[in-house]
Amino acid sequence: MKILVTGGAGFIGSNYILFMLQTFPDVQITNVDKLTYAGNLENLSAIECKDSYCSRYRFIKGDIVDRILIDNLLSQGFDAVINFAAESHVDRSIEEAGIFIRTNVLGTQILLEGIKKYKVGRFIQISTDEVYGSLGPEGKFTEESYLKPNSPYSASKAGADLICRAYFKTFSLPVIITRCSNNYGPYQFPEKVIPLFITNAIENIPLPLYGDGLNIRDWIYVEDHCRAIDLVLRKGKVGEIYNIGGNCERTNITITQMILEKLNKPKTLITFVKDRPGHDRRYAIAADKIEKEIGWKPAHSFETGIDKTITWYLNNKSWWEKIKSGEYRNYYHQMYGNRSSL
Ligand code: NAD
Ligand code: DAU
Repeated sequence: MKILVTGGAGFIGSNYILFMLQTFPDVQITNVDKLTYAGNLENLSAIECKDSYCSRYRFIKGDIVDRILIDNLLSQGFDAVINFAAESHVDRSIEEAGIFIRTNVLGTQILLEGIKKYKVGRFIQISTDEVYGSLGPEGKFTEESYLKPNSPYSASKAGADLICRAYFKTFSLPVIITRCSNNYGPYQFPEKVIPLFITNAIENIPLPLYGDGLNIRDWIYVEDHCRAIDLVLRKGKVGEIYNIGGNCERTNITITQMILEKLNKPKTLITFVKDRPGHDRRYAIAADKIEKEIGWKPAHSFETGIDKTITWYLNNKSWWEKIKSGEYRNYYHQMYGNRSSL
């Protein structure tokens, strides 16, 4: 199977490429990535320039908004395109929304145009549970829940989902949308809460917890998400949406305390800071459809997943120290420098 992966140098995309190439000898992958601040080819060092993979893996630095590049690439013939490429961080979308609309909405539409022209077998849009908005204390998001995005990031992802739907309805394109909950695991950029808090705790830097720390997310270990995407690619029905979730709701404060305990660090590192504007209170995914129709279930409990993740960040300090001491450090100071402690 010949697959074009977009955004494969980011967190989930790189985990997906490693999973696919290491699991299936018949898979060939082309990875197109713009290498924004979040794209890092070190994530793929296990396969980049390795003789055993060179006939099955190729990297192309490029922007999905570049129509000519995407047209040229898709003209080469692919069985599937998996679109991970995105601006993915909610806080950044609050600071500057334009690039989110450009990449997440326009980029998706440009890919769809190429799918239409070159008759690609499948297009998987990697969407998010954030398109559904926020839940109260009860209930879960199903595939039928209304789209009520609250941040510029989630609005851009919802926009992309609607463009996908329109291309399926109008042009009968072979589109499938997946909507997953919060991922964690190796190679996650240390701006997202779990890697930020693990690495801050290791460095004895305060852990900035937004608001009252009682917001809830539904956590999934990234490898479980990658396995779900593979099953959707092989067994999913065109035109359908599949929710993917870890069935693992945790408050942010619970996760923070767990990380500190596991690293044997004091709770005094927790610093309550001003809340994120428009902060969604609770996400919870009903994943019954993918479980029943496709036979997927998460294999990791939060306890096993978080242990693996903490161990990975402890063993891969050079990966994240480089990131935190460079461009990200400046960003971090800009972001949190003006958030006074409550
Ligand atoms: P990430 O920010 O780690 O990676 C995004 C990648 O896309 C980077 O490698 C970046 O260089 C690349 N990219 C950005 N703009 C591009 C462009 N214009 N052209 C080509 N490449 C570009 O993100 P992630 O956490 O790995 O998320 C991947 C996808 O999964 C996103 O679409 C995101 O919305 C979705 N998602 C993420 C989560 C999560 O918890 N992280 C959960 C559900 C869905
Ligand atoms: O639900 C899926 C989404 O999960 C993905 O679509 C997004 O790409 C991904 O970034 C993630 O969005 P969140 O906003 O939920 O993730 P983040 O790690 O930024 O925040 C998780 C929770 O932790 C949220 O309630 C905000 C809180 N938080 C976050 C940061 C960065 C803090 O309390 N302090 C922090 O410093």
